[in-house]
Amino acid sequence: MTSEPGAGWDRRSPRLHVLREGDRTVPATEALGTPPAVYGERVVARDGGWWRRWDPYRSKLAAALVRGYRGPVPRPSERWLYLGAATGTTASHLADLVGPEGSVYAVEFSLRPFVRLLRLAERYPNLFPLLADARRPESYAGLVPQVDGVYADVAQPDQAGIARDNAALFLETGGTLLLVLKLSSIRRDLSPAELESRAMDELRPLRPLSTPVALEPFHRQHRFLAARLTAPEEPRPSAPTRRWRGRAARAR
Ligand SMILES: C[S@@+](CC[C@H](N)C(=O)[O-])C[C@H]1O[C@@H](n2cnc3c(N)ncnc32)[C@H](O)[C@@H]1O
Repeated sequence: MTSEPGAGWDRRSPRLHVLREGDRTVPATEALGTPPAVYGERVVARDGGWWRRWDPYRSKLAAALVRGYRGPVPRPSERWLYLGAATGTTASHLADLVGPEGSVYAVEFSLRPFVRLLRLAERYPNLFPLLADARRPESYAGLVPQVDGVYADVAQPDQAGIARDNAALFLETGGTLLLVLKLSSIRRDLSPAELESRAMDELRPLRPLSTPVALEPFHRQHRFLAARLTAPEEPRPSAPTRRWRGRAARAR
C-alpha cells in the first residue's frame, strides 16, 4: 500500500522522514540509538544517522500517516504518555520522534510484553516503562509529569474514557491526544459511524482535530483520531436580565 509521494508527513516533525521504495513511500523515524532493529524493521543509513522504516502493518500511527492523517505527531523535546505500549513497537518510534531531549512514559499492564519493553528501554534512555493499569492513572501520578501528548492504544471497550481520564490528569492545556479506536472492542451492535461519534462525545472536553481516519487495509475495524485539550472558555459577563435591561432602557 502506498501514499502519494511527497504527501507531506515528513513536514509534521523534524525526525519523521519519507522512505521511497520504488514507486511507494513509507514513513521512517530517525533512530535514537544504533541498530539492531527493534521489531525486524529495515534500518538505513542516512544523513550521518539511521532511519527506521515505520511499518504501517505493525503500527497504527504509521498506518494513519499513510492513510492521510496530517495532524500533530510527537516532536523533539516533547513529553508523551503512552497507554498500552505492549512490547514497544510504536513506542520506540515515538521515542525516536521526541529525540534525546524528550521522553515517553509507556504504560502496560501485561507482564509478558512489559518484560520486553523493559529490555527496549535499556537501548532507549528516553523511554520509561510503567507496569500499571491505565484505568488507574492516579497510581502513576507521582511518576509521570505533565505531558505534551497522550497516545492511547489499549483496545478496551472503555478506550475513549481511559484516554480522556489520563488526559485530564496529565495533559497540558493545548496538548494533543492521539487515540486508536478498535471498533470491535467497543460494541458489535452499533455502526462504525455511531461508535466514532460516541467516542468523540466521550472525549469531551477535548476537541477533535479531524474526522477519524480509517486504518484499513492495515488494521481492520480501527480508527485513528486526534483531539486537543483547549483552555476552558473565559466565563462571559452574564447577559443583563430582562428586568435590568428594562430599567436601563428607562434610564436613557
Ligand atoms: C493493541 S495492543 C498495543 C500495541 C502497541 N500500541 C503498538 O502499537 O506497538 C494493546 C495493549 O494494551 C494493553 N492494555 C490493555 N488494557 C490496558 C490497561 N488498562 N492498562 C495498561 N495496558 C493495557 C494490552 O496488554 C496490550 O499490550
